[in-house]
Parts: sequence; C-alpha cells; structure tokens
Amino acid sequence: MNAMTPDQLTQRVLDAYGATPDSRLREILTALISHLHAFATETALTRQEWMAGLEFLTATGQKCDSERQEFILLSDVLGLSSLVDLINAADGATESTVLGPFYVPGAPRRDMGEPIGRPEDGEPTLVRGQVTDPEGKPLDNATLDVWQASASGLYDTQDPGQPRFNLRGVFVTGPDGRYEFRTARPASYPVPTDGPVGGLLRGSGRHSWRAAHIHAIVSAPGRRAVTTHVFDADNPYLDTDTVFGVKDSLIRAFRLAGPGDPPDVSRVVEMDFVLASEGE
Ligand code: BEZ
Ligand code: FE
Repeated sequence: MNAMTPDQLTQRVLDAYGATPDSRLREILTALISHLHAFATETALTRQEWMAGLEFLTATGQKCDSERQEFILLSDVLGLSSLVDLINAADGATESTVLGPFYVPGAPRRDMGEPIGRPEDGEPTLVRGQVTDPEGKPLDNATLDVWQASASGLYDTQDPGQPRFNLRGVFVTGPDGRYEFRTARPASYPVPTDGPVGGLLRGSGRHSWRAAHIHAIVSAPGRRAVTTHVFDADNPYLDTDTVFGVKDSLIRAFRLAGPGDPPDVSRVVEMDFVLASEGE
C-alpha cells in the first residue's frame, strides 16, 4: 500500500471541517488549514522547527496580561494588523492605521486650542485642521480622541514623571468641523522588546522603532470612525516603521511657525480628516 502524501492528508483535514455549519467560519477554517499546510509542506518544516514555533506562541501568550497584549504586537510586527486595516478601508476616508497598546479610554475633554501636555514634553506644536465628509462638507460634533508620546519617547502610562492623561485629550468640533490643539512634537520610540516579539525582531535583524506620530480616533454621528496617526515628515523611520503603520497620506510637515501663527508655538501641523458614512 502506498504511503499517504501530504496533499492527501491536507484534503482529509479539509474534508473533516467541510461540514462546519457557519459558512463564514467554514470559509476561514478552509483557508487557514490550506495555507497552514502549504506553509509546512513548502518549507519542509522539521519537528524541531514546529516545536520552536509552538514554544514561541506559548511564550507570546504567557507575556499577555491586562496591560500587555503581545499577540497584537506580533500581529503588528508581521504587518497583519496593517493588512487587515487595508482590507477594511472605507473609500474616500482618511486612511487608518494601528491602534497600538497605549490607547487609554476616558481622556479629558478639552477646549479647542488647549494644550494636551506640558511645556517640558517637547517643542510646542499646534495641530489643526478640519473634519469633513468625503464631499468636503464640515462635520459638526465630530470627536477627536488624541494621544501621543512625549519628546522622551514615552507615553504617560510608561513614565511615572508624567501626570495621568498627559498628552491625551478629546476635542469636539462645532458646525465648521474645525479643530485645533497644542501639544509637543512627538519623538520616535521603540515598541516593547522584552518579550518574544523583541526576540523575533532581533533574530530578523529588524529595528524596533516606530516613526514619530500623534494618534487620533476620529468619529462623528452617522460616520464610520477612523483610528489613525499623523506622522512627522522629518522622521528617519518612515520607511522602516517596525509595525508597517506608515501611509503616505498620513505624513505631514511639522513646519516651523512663522508670521501669522500663534506666538506660543514653534511648529504647526495641518491635518484634515475625512469620515465615510457608517454603512461604507
Ligand atoms: C503605538 O503606536 O502606540 C504602537 C503601535 C503598535 C505597536 C506598539 C506601539
Ligand atoms: Fe504610538
């Protein structure tokens, strides 16, 4: 009798899941099994490599707790988080990018123009723009939930020297859709490298730096919310961002302030946000 071939085994496994009642789950399982088996067959995966992979995933799970999500970080550095963003993008809307692990819900609501940080957090910077629909109509009552690291590269949650909710704030637009806030020019910072994902980056010869950015979740009634960043055009990590989060449309000049700009800031960033309808 002939020995079973890899293709026959793969087909047998696919058949075993072929009666999965939920059609979407069936579709996902079928693709997962096909790709997983093709990966092992193509690479002629050894038993030791299979076990090393399982140990890596086990360590990734063991690194997770209520504050740390190493699996999301793994998805980020493999570009999967960004791929899922791309697949689910709404036409005509501002491009989205990774949420990251440093979002904290419940940041204080602030008045337009108010600083979200302290003078010692970095170069004083004004961020301003407008929230519109894809046709350019200003969106009233749009909410911008913004957060960022300081010039030290640390978020408030990582730095005992920063007060809670430092460099975070929620702004709500009026009928003109316009917003503005004062902040510090953010710095690049490394993703956490003390877990298995750090080992993966080192083993691949990749650096761990994120291109400097300001995070924003922008939402409005009846509109699909966008989780995104504003990237500093002068940053050296734009092309090699460790989590593949940079999109050209999100890069902005942090230009020097000039005549006509408020005298208390040294940099100005203009960033408009476009939100698609909820159904899109
Ligand atoms: C962040 O931008 O906050 C971030 C995103 C992905 C992984 C680590 C940090
Ligand atoms: Fe970040």
